[in-house]
Amino acid sequence: MSLLLFNANQILTCKAQNKRFKRKDELSELSILDRNSIIIDAGIITEITDKVSEADFGKFDNVIDVREFSILPGLVDAHTHLVFAGSREEEFEKRTKGITYEEIARSGGGINSTVEATRKIGSEELFMVSKKRLLESISYGITTIEIKSGYSLDVANEIKMLNCIKELNELDLAECIPTFLGAHTVPNEFKQNRSNYIALILDEMLPKISQLGVAKYCDIFLEKTAFSVEESESILSKAKSVGFELKLHCDQFNSIGGVELGIKLRVKSIDHLEMITKEDISKIAETEIATVLLPGVSYFLNIPYAPARSLIDYGAIVVLATDFNPGSCMTQNLPLIMNLAAIQMKMSINETINAVTINAAYSLGLEEKIGSIEVGKQADFLILNSPNYQNLVYHFGTNHTQYTIKKGKVIYARNN
Ligand code: NIG
Ligand code: FE
Repeated sequence: MSLLLFNANQILTCKAQNKRFKRKDELSELSILDRNSIIIDAGIITEITDKVSEADFGKFDNVIDVREFSILPGLVDAHTHLVFAGSREEEFEKRTKGITYEEIARSGGGINSTVEATRKIGSEELFMVSKKRLLESISYGITTIEIKSGYSLDVANEIKMLNCIKELNELDLAECIPTFLGAHTVPNEFKQNRSNYIALILDEMLPKISQLGVAKYCDIFLEKTAFSVEESESILSKAKSVGFELKLHCDQFNSIGGVELGIKLRVKSIDHLEMITKEDISKIAETEIATVLLPGVSYFLNIPYAPARSLIDYGAIVVLATDFNPGSCMTQNLPLIMNLAAIQMKMSINETINAVTINAAYSLGLEEKIGSIEVGKQADFLILNSPNYQNLVYHFGTNHTQYTIKKGKVIYARNN
């Protein structure tokens, strides 16, 4: 099947000089082509050219006239908890009255209340609610999405969640990258006996999940209310030894040594970093670890924003993601997150775009296949219903997607 995207007003290629990621000044470069067309065959970009005309339309199975539009690489949401049951509006109400997210977590609510709901739900129903959410993410131009388990915290139900992510991936809409997050928090029934829960992760969950091949990454929530540096080191080291690549949630509320551990274990990404110290910024900037920033969480929990400007200026590989989840960021609108990053973290529009395309692809180890518009890469695009791309970040809170295209196939089309 061939497809011609004809005569786009702008194509933001987001191509990286070094091909893997962008840092410092390169994060501002989008490599824009004006008035060009993209030719796709069997889901792969085969040509980007200004030499096709309407007389050539007959050579293609499909043609989409994009002369009024701009084209970006399909967006990559590199950190989500999209699979869960229930919702937490009561907790949201409590937070509006001044009770903090951490206080709610300490009293047994928060993550553990979603755990209770997710354990109870049957796999079919979990798949149906999750599929609906996946379609919503796709409507914002997201073509690749990382999804974590971590709302079940027992062997059978963590596997239920990971199987759900596998089934979502098999829909062949957006690509779903599965992450095992058994160490999200200590479940309520192990609160008096946390070492037994850690033993369950080490001795049962990790070997079984590795054997099933249902997760690419293993992640952990390193925080005062969750897992310590020592506990995280033992879990992540074991995960590495049974074949997982590693990710880390840390420095969200307290900086307690997570960045140093991430560097020591050579994790692929360190996520959150709202409270990262100056010292750790310069350390992480010297590595090839992606820093995944989640400004939607800062907004939703009214906590400080991660110091994106310093991270970029020091040379860290900055990524933006939603962290979509029912407790700390109940939105799937990645362009809205880009707007927050621009306003609250002083990132330029161009920086936010590279942070959700090429750098986000890198943070999932997919930069050779996706994240930029180049011949030979997968034909994943966000086509904006606007001739100028800045609208995506500037005109906030609205959906600008005309089409979402995955491997040359339209997976979302606006109906007006
Ligand atoms: O990334 N930080 C830990 N986990 C999620 C929140 C999950 C929840 O509250 O349900 C996060 O913010
Ligand atoms: Fe998260």
